[in-house]
Amino acid sequence: MPGEGVGVGLVGLGTIGVGVAKVLERNAGVIRERLGFPLRLVRVADLDLERDRGIDLSGVRFDRDTEGLLDDPDVQIVVELIGGYDAARRVTLGAIERGKHVVTANKALLALHGGEIFEAAARAGVDVAFEASVGGGIPILRSLREGLSANQIETIHGIMNGTTNYVLTEMERTGEPFEVVLKRAQELGYAEADPSFDVDGIDAAHKLTLLVAMAFGAELTFKDIPTEGIRALEPLDFEAAERLGLVCKLLGIAKAHDDGRIEVRVHPTLIPATSLLAHVEGAMNAIAVHGNAVGPTLFYGAGAGELPTASAVVADLMEIARELQRGTAGPVPPLAYVPQSLRPKPLVPLGELVGRAYLRFTALDRPGVLSHIAGALGDCGVGIESVLQQGRGGAVESVPVVILTHPAPESAIRGALAEIDSLADVTAPTLFVRIEDEL
Ligand code: HSE
Repeated sequence: MPGEGVGVGLVGLGTIGVGVAKVLERNAGVIRERLGFPLRLVRVADLDLERDRGIDLSGVRFDRDTEGLLDDPDVQIVVELIGGYDAARRVTLGAIERGKHVVTANKALLALHGGEIFEAAARAGVDVAFEASVGGGIPILRSLREGLSANQIETIHGIMNGTTNYVLTEMERTGEPFEVVLKRAQELGYAEADPSFDVDGIDAAHKLTLLVAMAFGAELTFKDIPTEGIRALEPLDFEAAERLGLVCKLLGIAKAHDDGRIEVRVHPTLIPATSLLAHVEGAMNAIAVHGNAVGPTLFYGAGAGELPTASAVVADLMEIARELQRGTAGPVPPLAYVPQSLRPKPLVPLGELVGRAYLRFTALDRPGVLSHIAGALGDCGVGIESVLQQGRGGAVESVPVVILTHPAPESAIRGALAEIDSLADVTAPTLFVRIEDEL
């Protein structure tokens, strides 16, 4: 016999799952006062029943039986917190097939299988809520979907991965190399044992996929998003950036162009040290959204972690619980646009982007090298704004040379780099970091 209020079933009792149980328990009073009825954790499924997670699950059925949880009539909303693709997809679609609403924090799942999941949910007349999937506790999705819904969104610039922001901040602060800082991030629990999703930009690209769909009504295009990570950055790049008044961040960037195309990309980006995003340090996230009516907005907060992420999960649970009590389906489409308005949007090729570039060459310390490099840039129409020589490089006879270009099309810069990297005097591939001046 269902009890009073709305029953929640949780699949996956890891860090965020524990956070959800804690928030539901600790904040039960305020949740009840805001809803007018209780939100009850009735059932939890996880493969590990032994580990002490420091929470009291008395009164909650806790076992390995995910199918039983999905079938349980006391469970009206299913929270999927398994992560990954296959099992999470099975649980999500299984819940939808049974007419149950789903809350998830799984950006990887939605970025890759979102089309299938949202279609199934629309057919079944249930909600799939995913506030926790982008920016952890920051209510960025609800803000885009509702608070900014009167705007044409013009640009998004987001620091959406806490692990990389921690690594970049520490490299800048300590002058230590990437591997040393990454190891410390792993010891502190910021970075996963396999950090590639974070440091190669994939996690940020998953999140940007969802933001782009909501901002522009673009069908999900994860596989098409140009994505670069932070592994190639060296301590001397941070020194040079500081001298140039720039700070390096892994940004997810999306812009609407007047011709209907959109620009979407994830890569290390040099931004003015005076910009607000440059001051976002450590594992924090921040997403700047520019709307044509509202102008600039900035959303800042913890992008990960037990309680911040649980804050977003439970907010989704409360919204769905209200709908269940009122007997109305969710009033706002999950991707902010009614499904028939979502369409593929052509992407602007990287070659068409125009901006200043930071180029770090590694060349033999011989007379004439700089003129070869400058000549190749000039031949491709790329002007030089400044040149820095940054001490000695790894190889005894090679030196790093940093050149800041004037704004130029990326195709021209790439053309010059192809030529420069084939010069006999250039001993390693050139590092190219885009500079984003308009923030
Ligand atoms: N691994 C992510 C980050 C958190 O470092 O921001 C989960 O999205």
